[in-house]
Amino acid sequence: MKNFSDGFFSVDANSGFLPIEEPLRKLPDTYAELQSLLDEMPVVKDDGSPGLLATERALEQATERLPNFLNQVKKEKDPRVKAALFRGYSFLASAYTLSPAHHTYLKTGKYGLANKKIPPTLAQPFVVIAEALEVFPWLDYHYAYSLGNFYKKEETKGWDWSNLSMAVKFSGMPDEQGFIMLHVDINQYSPNLVKAALGLADYPTDEINANLELFGTTLQKMNERRRLMWEASRWKHYNDFRVFIMGTKGNVDIFPEGLIYEGVWDTPHTYRGQTGAQDNIIPTADIISGVINYYPKNQLTNYLLDLRTYRPKCVQSFFHFISKKMDQHPLLKRLVDSNNLEGMVHLMKVFEEIYLFRNGHWQFVQKYIMQNTAYPKATGGTPITSWIPNQIKAVLRAMKVLFDKMKDHQNPNWNQSEWLESYNKKVQLLNKQLKIVSIEAFDPEAVFDLNEKMGYQDF
Ligand code: HEM
Repeated sequence: MKNFSDGFFSVDANSGFLPIEEPLRKLPDTYAELQSLLDEMPVVKDDGSPGLLATERALEQATERLPNFLNQVKKEKDPRVKAALFRGYSFLASAYTLSPAHHTYLKTGKYGLANKKIPPTLAQPFVVIAEALEVFPWLDYHYAYSLGNFYKKEETKGWDWSNLSMAVKFSGMPDEQGFIMLHVDINQYSPNLVKAALGLADYPTDEINANLELFGTTLQKMNERRRLMWEASRWKHYNDFRVFIMGTKGNVDIFPEGLIYEGVWDTPHTYRGQTGAQDNIIPTADIISGVINYYPKNQLTNYLLDLRTYRPKCVQSFFHFISKKMDQHPLLKRLVDSNNLEGMVHLMKVFEEIYLFRNGHWQFVQKYIMQNTAYPKATGGTPITSWIPNQIKAVLRAMKVLFDKMKDHQNPNWNQSEWLESYNKKVQLLNKQLKIVSIEAFDPEAVFDLNEKMGYQDF
């Protein structure tokens, strides 16, 4: 079996998409000044008092006094130290640049301009550690903001988001914590997802139904956890931290000219912002189930594929491996050729869970973003309202193709007319939602009410 590991992540049936070991909570003592700056940084510190980001220019001034750890950083070999350093410098670069945008937002309700340069003491070690990990020098989802940024408050209490805390924070408030720690919580089931994915990519195999069933039930559990977002992080508080995860690419109102890494490059560089779209669950499900073959040919699809390059190399290799295998032996063809009706029922469940994930997630976007702000760009730099529903269409198309293969066969485990009724409801719901959001000044609440009326309210 192939190895998809970089020493920090290992995409396999033991770790799934989570780090092999819990990430370091603090940096080694050598970096005491950097650690202390990170501890002092949040708008609200752990002891409840205001941190540097609570006062204009305070974080920038403190960063400018930071020693340059470039030579020390160059020597690091331990994967956990490297990941924690990347996390620390990523947070600092985002806080340093976006602090003015945050303060303008507090005063005017609109994001202001970001600082357009980071000083050499920050830029040089940051770029070196990013190169060592082979990632872009900007806050990412894997090593920095989410999967590499948690610790368990009590070891025995497990993965529930409320038992997880962020090692490094921007706002320091509970809604930021709940928001990003829930992403980690959902990934507690990723070992089984990876196990089933590798089992299904393996061909020929006689385990296809067992693996498909595991894949579907795991997605179901993940969806159950995902729905807890509504309580983990209150939508009205999303803007308390959202500005700090913006990217330098695609967000021209905040970074009109990109970002200068002083002492590294003379010209500005741009990178996409931190986003759940860098998470691996849905892409894995799309590749394995074949939904990816129904993606529309548009900018969102290009964006999602571009985001593959914002993941650790070992995750990229995993995607590459399963994509190649599924292209060689597409799942639906295997099921149809072997007249495997049971497998088709399991595949339909997988589609159903991907649909529920995306439709529930669409409701997140309506509430947490559209209801809170007139700014039409997501942190990843995408025009949000029009893009997200495209991927829901892809799932509905895949479902219909599978239905057409199943409809002429009797199957006691599958109620065809019930299925059709539920499918038609989904199509209707999507069309009505698209109609609402096609109006320039649309009312996000209407999307929400519609979901409630049609039985798809997410919480
Ligand atoms: C309040 C919660 C959330 C909000 C407001 C939100 C917002 C967004 C936005 C605006 C996008 C558009 C692309 C971009 O520019 O980044 C996006 C994409 C995406 N997000 Fe989230 N997200 C949330 C939670 C999650 C969670 C918990 C996950 C998974 C663990 C996730 C996974 C994804 C994926 C896979 C995409 C790519 C689009 C797709 O494949 O359908 N998101 N999200």
